[in-house]
Amino acid sequence: MLDPVKLKADFPVLQQTVHNGVPLVYLDNAASSQKPQIVIDTLSRIDSTVYANVHRGAHWLSDESTALYEESRDAVAEFIHASSSREIVFTTGTTGAINIVARSWGDANVNQGDEILLTRLEHHSNIVPWQQLAQRKGAQIKWCDITEDGCLDLEEFENLLSDRTRVVACTMASNVLGTFTPAKQITQLAHEAGAIVVLDAAQAIPHQAMNVLELEADFVAFSAHKMLGPSGIGILYGKEALLESMPPFLGGGSMIDVVSEQGFTTAALPAKFEAGTPPISPVLALPACLEYLTQIGMENIHQHELELASYAHAQLDTLGKVNILGPAPSEKAGVVSFTVDNLHPHDLTHALDNQGVAIRAGHHCAMPLHQRLGITASARASFYLYNTRDDVDTLVQAIDKAIRLFS
Ligand code: ALA
Repeated sequence: MLDPVKLKADFPVLQQTVHNGVPLVYLDNAASSQKPQIVIDTLSRIDSTVYANVHRGAHWLSDESTALYEESRDAVAEFIHASSSREIVFTTGTTGAINIVARSWGDANVNQGDEILLTRLEHHSNIVPWQQLAQRKGAQIKWCDITEDGCLDLEEFENLLSDRTRVVACTMASNVLGTFTPAKQITQLAHEAGAIVVLDAAQAIPHQAMNVLELEADFVAFSAHKMLGPSGIGILYGKEALLESMPPFLGGGSMIDVVSEQGFTTAALPAKFEAGTPPISPVLALPACLEYLTQIGMENIHQHELELASYAHAQLDTLGKVNILGPAPSEKAGVVSFTVDNLHPHDLTHALDNQGVAIRAGHHCAMPLHQRLGITASARASFYLYNTRDDVDTLVQAIDKAIRLFS
């Protein structure tokens, strides 16, 4: 098992006090994780030694930077078990990655009357690009419901698939309920129906081992800033044959082979989808994040979060007025969303912040899910490898205090 107390010492942000001396307890990891010193140092070292634009320069610095940029791509491919680095496209984030698929694959392959199957667990990033595609093409969105305990209703999923389904877009772990979805089964069923599968792995890849080959998913999207890395980078994994078949989305520098007054030809994969100067230093720092996670072990991280979520469930239950949303800890990532009787999540979050506890409140960019749950907002505590049982205790004590304050 990992030692979260020891790990927390690696994260300078977490050593701070806030509001004039209250220790910071950071439980907003589903929004963004923090960076360990090794990643901060790597970013600084890159900017002090090898920073230059990539794939452009004819000089030593640019060659160094370009070589490291491609090493980062190799490291990502290895981390998720892709069969080739050509299947790894650097984007601006999970949102950017999903938009590439919806715009490029979607515009070329989805037509009037076709169906796009979404689930009620989705983040807006995996809803709106498909709604935009449906609007452009006259396609229809279908929604797969959740069960009463907040899991994906697989029976309904199967019933909703039809020979008109072109795309299944599904999260691997809900950012609100934490629910893990049966991604492998979803992919198999979708493929049998002739649809492609786009997995939003933003809340899954930071917390459990990922093998895209085993999953057989067509596209997988995730972000570095939820896995100890810098913001501004996302990764789109796509099966090589699919990426090859797709037209480029953004046009500009780097994504071309030849440009003339008459038109252009596109660069080979993955440059075809990487128009413009990328976030160079953040990409070069990615291997430091992946090595840090690998050294700890993704299975250890998963177990640790499961243990913390179980502890949080048990402790929150003792307060009596806390309604935890979603499934049992064994079915989900280290995310605990809840409402408190007669206390608005924003008021609660404000009261918690005053006690140094950082959580998120609101619809968490998942309004359809909140509508399905019959609420407009919830409070969310989300854990990562550096959170401790003491953090959970502080959370629970702070909620207890807030309940007493507002009653
Ligand atoms: N998608 C991130 C969250 O759920 C920002 O908080």
